[in-house]
Amino acid sequence: MLKTAVVGEAEQKLVSKLIFNTVVPRPIAWITTLSKEGVVNLAPFSFYNAVTTKPPIIIVSIGKRKDGNPKDTARNIRETKEFVINVVSKEFLEKMHLSGKDFPPEVSEAKELGIELEPSVLIKPPRVKGVPAALECRLKEIVEIGDTPMDLVIGEVVAIHYREELLETQRGIVGRLGGKYYLVIGEEVIEKLD
Ligand SMILES: Cc1cc2nc3c(=O)[nH]c(=O)nc-3n(C[C@H](O)[C@H](O)[C@H](O)COP(=O)(O)O)c2cc1C
Repeated sequence: MLKTAVVGEAEQKLVSKLIFNTVVPRPIAWITTLSKEGVVNLAPFSFYNAVTTKPPIIIVSIGKRKDGNPKDTARNIRETKEFVINVVSKEFLEKMHLSGKDFPPEVSEAKELGIELEPSVLIKPPRVKGVPAALECRLKEIVEIGDTPMDLVIGEVVAIHYREELLETQRGIVGRLGGKYYLVIGEEVIEKLD
């Protein structure tokens, strides 16, 4: 027997939890951006997917901070219109997770966590060195959606850096599950981080 939560009647906390736990596994966009002042920002987002391939368009949904202010990633994308989506493999799992904690705008998560960066080819924000793939993106549009509202970022992929083996297998790439669980493709290991 399935239980039913009618949205509007059920508690919002349960509705949110059900979305996090039923829309799984989610891909993770580990996004590098540059602030107007030139600080590199790095943060993960799992409300993310590809929607077309010609041209390649991706969407990412970025919520507000608890105090109602925009997250650094959303502010930087709005201001500078460029970002890189770094694909997360198992060796980056812990650092990616830590980069999701609150860091002040003037602090670079990449620097704090000792993450090496390398230049992009078409846009200014750098990419994470050593990831299996990185998608250079230019902003097409931001749609404000939901009650908060969230920033639904629509971006066009303009260059893709990739390990050749990715065309054969995506083994080792990390996805997000409910709670703080992660799935590593091709492994039984599901890691829970705090
Ligand atoms: C795996 C993972 C996925 C996340 N997905 C999202 C998401 O889709 N949307 C969102 O607003 N925040 C998401 N977060 C939280 C942000 O990463 C977090 O708020 C971060 O501090 C934002 O950083 P920024 O202010 O540097 O942009 C996620 C965190 C983790 C660890």
